[in-house]
Amino acid sequence: MLNAVKNYDDVDSWKTVMFLYNSALKKVGTKLEILNDEFQHVHKYNPIEHIKTRVKTAESIVKKLKRYGYETSIENMVKYVNDIAGVRVICSFTSDIYRLAEMIGNQNDLKVLAIKDYIKNPKESGYKSYHMLASVPIFLSDGVVDTKVEIQIRTIAMDFWASLEHKIYYKFEGNAPDYISRDLRECAEMVSTLDEKMLSLNEAIHACLEKEGL
Ligand code: GTP
Ligand code: MG
Repeated sequence: MLNAVKNYDDVDSWKTVMFLYNSALKKVGTKLEILNDEFQHVHKYNPIEHIKTRVKTAESIVKKLKRYGYETSIENMVKYVNDIAGVRVICSFTSDIYRLAEMIGNQNDLKVLAIKDYIKNPKESGYKSYHMLASVPIFLSDGVVDTKVEIQIRTIAMDFWASLEHKIYYKFEGNAPDYISRDLRECAEMVSTLDEKMLSLNEAIHACLEKEGL
């Protein structure tokens, strides 16, 4: 029986912590796959195009702690770096994002700690995506540890923009000339238009098929 409920204070080694984050990623990844399979089974439609998972490198964890003004320690990274375990879910349509977010929120063994809706409120850069910070319990031989996972949900078009913008932004180390930032924002608007068009096209196709009894 699991009687000792561990918390992060008990977890003191890098390896143990990384093991937890990797386990949490596996757990959330499987959950999402099951949700997608179930959706396919019931509605003959899969909302997820693909899923990417990654664990943050030691280098970027240290960088982030520095940026936040915290000393480098396991305790601080567990407490303040929320995206050590990251899952990116790429959906077909914007409507799938909200459907999926709701399904994730309904999972009993997953706690939603925070939500940032950059689709309704895009970032200054033009970035759009739906972020959920969640925690899942990882059952070890001698206890349970709640482990944080950042889930980013976006459409293929949003992902296309974010991936390229990230590359460009990286080259300028955050100091891109104004006209480039402006053009990137313009591209983000085109991406949104494309998403809206694809969604209404999809709805039109469904209405058409229904009318023909297909
Ligand atoms: P950090 O920005 O990660 O320090 O934390 P935060 O609390 O501000 O989180 P936020 O939700 O703003 O962003 C977290 C993640 O979203 C980043 O690590 C990126 O993966 C992604 N993201 C946020 N803003 C942008 C953006 O302007 N462009 C791109 N390409 N990705 C972004
Ligand atoms: Mg940020």
